[in-house]
Amino acid sequence: MVLWKVQSVAHPTIGIVLLGGLMDQYERLPYHSSAGIAYTLTDSESVARTTLTVGTEKSSVNINGVEIDQQDSRSPMKLIHKYSSSFLEKYRSDRVSIESVNENILSGSSDAGAAALGKCIDASIGVDPVSLELEMRKVSESAGRSYHGGLTITYAGPRPFTRKILDESEFENIRIISAVFPHKRKPSDDIHTNQPRHEYYRSRMQNAERAVRELEMLSSRSDIKGIFELAMRDTEDYHYMNSLVDVQIVTPEMRTLMDRINEWRSEIWMTYIVTGGNSVFIPTMRENASEVTGLISGFTEEIHELRVAGGARLISSGFS
Ligand code: MEV
Repeated sequence: MVLWKVQSVAHPTIGIVLLGGLMDQYERLPYHSSAGIAYTLTDSESVARTTLTVGTEKSSVNINGVEIDQQDSRSPMKLIHKYSSSFLEKYRSDRVSIESVNENILSGSSDAGAAALGKCIDASIGVDPVSLELEMRKVSESAGRSYHGGLTITYAGPRPFTRKILDESEFENIRIISAVFPHKRKPSDDIHTNQPRHEYYRSRMQNAERAVRELEMLSSRSDIKGIFELAMRDTEDYHYMNSLVDVQIVTPEMRTLMDRINEWRSEIWMTYIVTGGNSVFIPTMRENASEVTGLISGFTEEIHELRVAGGARLISSGFS
């Protein structure tokens, strides 16, 4: 018998101060602080839509129509197990089904899925946000970015936590053009396991902490262009670090585009961000978005226009 059903959505994310290096595969605790934004396509909403049903005959996880092994180390069912006594207390059942569908997501679906599930759990049993984030990060280390939306900083430490430092409304005049290259992306865990092994990693950690402090200052002044200039410098440091450990994310084709952006920047304001995937993200002013799209159209066939989005939202909930 179904007792309670709740649905939430959350947006995927892009790093601003990029995270590299996790202490372990289970807790996915970061070695250093990082920052990010939530995004959506401008012409349709990019979300993970997650439905949690309590009181089902058996527990199950279905993502994009595929049943997921609950024993998987990053299974979303981990979050339910953590709170199972609260579910039992409130609903007299901890048998739960989780169904999640990605809608218009280019990359960053696991952070959106984990955040949408976190929102469902909070709506079901009410949880402390810091403890919820510790659980969500076991599924995706960037879930806090998606949960809060806008521009966020995730502070490292034994209990890392994410704080929203700028509302999405501050980015109204910004568009992010995404140039997607046709090669397959590498697993982010290649970055997370390899970076800490190199001696440059100590500098990388210091650079990231310094960038986060600068970001706090830029945000307090609502210096939006400054934020994306900082993100571009961080992208360069991050991929320099990756090159030292033979993790190649920036392909020669992506680098050619980045070099051209450096030339175009003297005419039209734009920057670039490359995270762990096969896209070059190009923040620019809204009024220049179509011109920038035109400029990059010779570099790749797949181009999207994005904007900064808000946090996870509850869509519906109720007893039956
Ligand atoms: C994945 O955990 C982290 C990267 O996407 C970089 C970032 O967004 O901070 C690779």
